[in-house]
Amino acid sequence: MNVTLQNLVKDYGNFRALNGVNLQIGGGMFGLLGPNGAGKTTLMRILTTLIPPTSGSVQIGPYDLTREPGEIRQILGYMPQDFGFYRGLNAHELLDYIGAMKNIPRKERVKQIETVLNEVNLTGVAKRRVGGYSGGMRQRLGIAQALLGDPKLVIVDEPTAGLDPEERIRFRNLLTRLSGDRTVLLSTHIVGDIEASCAQVAVLNQGQLIFFGTPEALTARAEGRVWELEIAQREWETIENRYRIIASRSTPRGLVVRLISPENPEGRGSQIAPGLEDGYMAVMSAVSATVEKPEAQYA
Ligand SMILES: Nc1ncnc2c1ncn2[C@@H]1O[C@H](COP(=O)(O)OP(=O)(O)O)[C@@H](O)[C@H]1O
Ligand SMILES: [Mg+2]
Repeated sequence: MNVTLQNLVKDYGNFRALNGVNLQIGGGMFGLLGPNGAGKTTLMRILTTLIPPTSGSVQIGPYDLTREPGEIRQILGYMPQDFGFYRGLNAHELLDYIGAMKNIPRKERVKQIETVLNEVNLTGVAKRRVGGYSGGMRQRLGIAQALLGDPKLVIVDEPTAGLDPEERIRFRNLLTRLSGDRTVLLSTHIVGDIEASCAQVAVLNQGQLIFFGTPEALTARAEGRVWELEIAQREWETIENRYRIIASRSTPRGLVVRLISPENPEGRGSQIAPGLEDGYMAVMSAVSATVEKPEAQYA
């Protein structure tokens, strides 16, 4: 399922939340990365036809978003960022309800509920009230409801926020598995969510697309610019003011900081191979001086 965005603009009153986004999304898993407030949820709500764009066009498969919203709703599944629950229902009842809202006929619904529960590994707890579910189980149920109707495009908004590291890994693996014969559009502000799973990545910042390509290409943006530098405790402030620090750890002699710099910092850094997080920081720092620095970490 191909998704094409052309010059997409969204204004909320005087505020421009999306500022002319052009993007081509193909099959498999696609990562939409960006800090809070970047416009990720706005973009996803437009794709799901929940809010109209101010201008620009969106084509999803054979359909035009503005002219054929009904057709588009039939072929996509959506897991919103704040997926609310009817906590008194069990998973089976909840899916039955949502399936009915999606106009899936009763007999077909029964079959599909069984399939999606199985896909997200919740069959064993389908009769338990969802109010008692763990965070990871709740997110998997969120995916299950998005999969009802067997959509070819699944849109998932920040699903790993609030999950513990183990749940997060399990959830990522689930999404990867689902993306086999579907397009999965995943938004996140966590670089690690993208790393293992996405074939393509877009970085959104303040309503603008600042990167589009493979995770490897994003990593390469920091090539030759990532350094480790040993410093004394008293140098911290100077270094912090001069460079964009990504991480730091303490040693018996002081600190080792990992930072981004076009040149060898203080003439005594050692260059290291960049990771995806470094690439993300590099594109973010290239476009905006207002991007907040990460909190200093005194390990
Ligand atoms: N309904 C709305 N009315 C006014 N401003 C909004 C509305 N929804 C979002 N915004 C603003 O648009 C920007 C992008 O928000 P959002 O799309 O939620 O970003 P993200 O999901 O990347 O955090 C933010 O500055 C947000 O405050
Ligand atoms: Mg959001």
